[in-house]
Amino acid sequence: MDVGTVLVYDRREAEAYAQALRELGVSARLAVAFDPEAARALVPEADILLAWRFPPELYALARRLRWVQCMGAGVEDILSAPGLGPEVLVTRVVDQFGPSIAEYVFAELLARVRRLDETRALQRARLWRPFVADRLAGRRMGVAGLGSIGRELVRKARAFDMAVDGLSRTGSHAHLVDRHFGPDAWLEFVAELDVLVLTLPLTPATRGVVDAQVLGAMRPGSLLVNVGRGALVREEDLVRALDAGRPGGAVLDVFEREPLDPASPLWEMPGVTVTPHVSGPSRTREVAAFFAENLARYRRSQPLMGLVDRAAGY
Ligand code: GLV
Repeated sequence: MDVGTVLVYDRREAEAYAQALRELGVSARLAVAFDPEAARALVPEADILLAWRFPPELYALARRLRWVQCMGAGVEDILSAPGLGPEVLVTRVVDQFGPSIAEYVFAELLARVRRLDETRALQRARLWRPFVADRLAGRRMGVAGLGSIGRELVRKARAFDMAVDGLSRTGSHAHLVDRHFGPDAWLEFVAELDVLVLTLPLTPATRGVVDAQVLGAMRPGSLLVNVGRGALVREEDLVRALDAGRPGGAVLDVFEREPLDPASPLWEMPGVTVTPHVSGPSRTREVAAFFAENLARYRRSQPLMGLVDRAAGY
């Protein structure tokens, strides 16, 4: 079956994606755009879009579009584009980001409990001052969002002998999770956690769910880790909550607005780690391989991997 033209759009890697697709033997016609102007010219002829952060206003020009494959996990920008036809299929990458994101989270957690900054500083100063470090074993982690990323976090937390609770939209059982909570039980969920990790998708139902009330229910000294989307958390509430010591610190890879404003107080707050959305990068070859497999399924009219439920928002 002729699938028509695939428009590949990415501000940095579009040509590398096209090259990877050719190497994978993808025979569809490829159009490549690096910027909104080029995309505007090419989108009217596109049947399929493989893209990251495609300019939302251009969906209205995509008259032939039948399928959008997002290059990442989060599709909130695609689903909220007013011009996206209701019949267009949307797929996102699944089962690729869990290992990277979990390693990011545990790198940050271990650095804190083992006080790595301090040991490095002692070494630089040639000082021999032994101390008893804390440990992860026996601590309780709560994972909000139990998709492929959340489940990988749960698995690794168990390997570190942590207790693990989970919160998900359905509240349904996930492997290795002690206690399950649904979206109406945030306050109970966070009350006993040492670490709360957010991996939820951004949807109308999750926007701003971590607000002053939820943050105020966290334990003093606990840690918030956000590797999902910045807008899950009300950032102003977070700044006030950190000032008040609940939670006691935060590891933030995502923000309401990215890049984070240089004037944001978060850059310099004690106990806050800011990183530039690096925890789960899309790797060109892996994402291209995911798309190639999905394209083969599309040709055979088989179910697509990572098909988004547009009503649920992920
Ligand atoms: C990155 O944030 C992604 O959604 O893949």
